[in-house]
Amino acid sequence: MSLFQHLEPYAGDPILGLNEAFQRDPRPDKVNLSIGIYFDEEGRIPVLEAVRRAEARMLDEGGAKPYLPIAGLPAARRAVQGLLFGDGHAAVASGRVVTLQTVGSSGGLKVGADFLHRWLPGSEVWVSDPTWDNHRAMFEGAGIPVHAYPYYDAAGGGLRFDAMLEALSALPPRSIVLLHACCHNPTGVDPSREQWQRLVPVLRERELLPYLDLAYQGYGDGIDEDAYAVRLLADAGLSFFVASSFSKSMSVYGERAGALSVVCSDAAEAALVDGQLQATVRRNYSSPPIHAGGIVAHVLGDPALRALWRSEVDAMRDRIRGMRRALHERVGARLPGHDLGYLLSQRGMFSYTGLSPAQVDRMREQFGVYLVRSGRMCVAGLNAGNVDRTADAMAAVLADEGPGPDGR
Ligand code: LMR
Repeated sequence: MSLFQHLEPYAGDPILGLNEAFQRDPRPDKVNLSIGIYFDEEGRIPVLEAVRRAEARMLDEGGAKPYLPIAGLPAARRAVQGLLFGDGHAAVASGRVVTLQTVGSSGGLKVGADFLHRWLPGSEVWVSDPTWDNHRAMFEGAGIPVHAYPYYDAAGGGLRFDAMLEALSALPPRSIVLLHACCHNPTGVDPSREQWQRLVPVLRERELLPYLDLAYQGYGDGIDEDAYAVRLLADAGLSFFVASSFSKSMSVYGERAGALSVVCSDAAEAALVDGQLQATVRRNYSSPPIHAGGIVAHVLGDPALRALWRSEVDAMRDRIRGMRRALHERVGARLPGHDLGYLLSQRGMFSYTGLSPAQVDRMREQFGVYLVRSGRMCVAGLNAGNVDRTADAMAAVLADEGPGPDGR
């Protein structure tokens, strides 16, 4: 009996598949700028000291591993609210905010999508063009049709804000608008504060439902600064979703430490939302991981560990910025006609290089430098030991293309 011969072959994930290909590449001087992982100056995934100390305490406290509640560890959930909204925010104090610890922010995104499919039937989602590939897959997987709004300006390397605003202004009420709260993946291009402020009346007047993805808090301008959009929408009294992650900010990728928060119109509505989100989690994966919850609760719950963690996030952000400058300078020195100014203006882990799939393939095949085929570069994978090789590879593929119309 053959039940599955009709299956479509899986082409592999464009990001995770590339990371696996990198691991198999035998070249010693290969450079991994594909997956969104922060590597330190030695090319390793760091174990943050704040996390190490938190884990040591957890071990001391005893190793029992009961199931967590469906919504996760209460101390972790409270800590997430403080991080997103700031201590003592009125929305949190009034009981309008529901927060669940989830299996990474991916788990949060999916739980939120399943919830919306059931409880806001007929609503469709709009994502930025481009966005993280998995956004589309997750919402489609939850049965919600996915569309795109204009976002990245390929010609100038910035934001098509007016086109974005116009597109959002024409959406039907109750449309879901997926927004990257900071450090846009894959482009590194974010709205300015003034642009976020201009989005608020459109979201309100069109009765749209913002769904924020906050996976890189601390990698843009700072932990509080990167929560600007979350706090702005909360201050404006909007109802919205936020999926947030500690994978990058605590360097705990495989722990799957994330959260889903929903800001509701009042505490009574929040209680209903809380209940149905918990029902959604139970149907999906029952409850979130205890170790992830413990790390978050310990690091954020202890003032000394929290301060240490903040300083470690600051150091990671500074190193990424230094690498942006280093690559910009080195490509500029090799190719005086090309000013890759976008490396300096884009923020967070990623830059959108504008390189074509063929150019990306050549960088990988000839130089062992791995980027995602969309042209996305994870600048957090650069270090003093590989930035010259990366600049060589970029200069080689750009030289063959000649300067673009705007010198990019
Ligand atoms: C990325 O975009 O590279 C990361 O968010 C990792 C992933 O799961 O794709």
